[in-house]
Amino acid sequence: MKRLRIGLVGAGLVGQAEHAFYLWEERDRFDFVALADPSATVREALRQRYGLQHVHAELKDLLACNLDAVVIAAPDALHPDLAVTALEAGLHVLCEKPLALTLAGCDRIAAARDKSGRVLQVGYMKRHDPAYKRALELLPTDIADVKLIAVEVNDPDFEPFVAHLPIVWPNDIPADLRAEARAATAAQLRDSTGADPTEAGARALASGYLSAMVHEVAVVHGMLAHLGCPMPGVPDQAAWFDEGRGVQLAFGLPGGGRVSMTHLTLPGVPDYTERVSIYCADRIVELTFPAPYLRHEPTRLTLRRGGAGHALETTDFRVSYEEAFREQLRAFHAAACNDAPVSTPVEQARRDVELLVSAFRKAAAARS
Ligand SMILES: NC(=O)c1ccc[n+]([C@@H]2O[C@H](COP(=O)([O-])OP(=O)(O)OC[C@H]3O[C@@H](n4cnc5c(N)ncnc54)[C@H](O)[C@@H]3O)[C@@H](O)[C@H]2O)c1
Repeated sequence: MKRLRIGLVGAGLVGQAEHAFYLWEERDRFDFVALADPSATVREALRQRYGLQHVHAELKDLLACNLDAVVIAAPDALHPDLAVTALEAGLHVLCEKPLALTLAGCDRIAAARDKSGRVLQVGYMKRHDPAYKRALELLPTDIADVKLIAVEVNDPDFEPFVAHLPIVWPNDIPADLRAEARAATAAQLRDSTGADPTEAGARALASGYLSAMVHEVAVVHGMLAHLGCPMPGVPDQAAWFDEGRGVQLAFGLPGGGRVSMTHLTLPGVPDYTERVSIYCADRIVELTFPAPYLRHEPTRLTLRRGGAGHALETTDFRVSYEEAFREQLRAFHAAACNDAPVSTPVEQARRDVELLVSAFRKAAAARS
């Protein structure tokens, strides 16, 4: 098997909790040799932990290190610049979600991918979860038999779920870089919405819709694609609440069914809950995802159907203890080395950004 010489771009929370660890473990597929991160503390800790040969503050300094690929896990607003730089240098890219905060950002990445002929995979790890893949097989084949897809998430503070991991925090990033990243985020949110959102609006848009609910939108998008049904770019209902800590959207399905999604951040109650329930004509399929940072905590998959008489038959599937983040890397390797199709491409991520930004705009219009 070809080993990809790979670098990580950004190693904060998800970079350390997931990507660096699995890049190092998946050494049959990856030669994890490089890191770009403006935090000197993070660079030194990861250099020592993983024996990295090249550690630099910026991606451009990694480009002379003869890499094949990078994983981008830097802040959202930086994804387009970083992904375009890497693609133009001829590298395959696995880029964290959301792919960009604007449609123009998605388009820049798509153009660079097409010109380079390299792989661009979006980091929707839940789409690689073994239980999610098994759930697809349990869905009916006709979209008219799907009556309701109901998504309910409580995503509390992340600290309780990573406190056991040896994470070194990037608290020494130069102040001017922090200010630049904040300004880039504000400018991109303004581009997406046509105005400067309020503080609560910015929380709803950037954290609630684009950074958090994007996970569930990607899951539903994958299910609809599996059923041959397009994902809409505009919801027919949307709202945010609790100062932007809660966001909702809903839309209709071609067969008459509905999709309804709620994502809530409830700080102080460390109970991560992410339930995706698919109510169908003759069955209910339900996925319950664990907090994403817990390793080998399987996603629960249940199937409920009517049995003889008035009986309810429930099947609980323990599909695998394999990790979604690891499976995501394996799929990336297969796409880069064996021309396997990219199951989470730019085009889907662009539609997801379109839906989420439209939801924010609809919710904002309803409040004004
Ligand atoms: N898939 C998931 O479950 C998941 C979970 C959390 C975050 N994310 C996404 O991953 C990305 C990172 O999120 P995080 O929570 O780890 O953030 P974080 O702030 O903890 O880490 C970001 C890291 O990027 C570094 N960085 C900043 N500017 C950089 C630059 N120009 N080049 C290289 N590195 C740079 C920072 O020093 C920091 O170490 C975001 O896009 C976020 O939405 C995904």
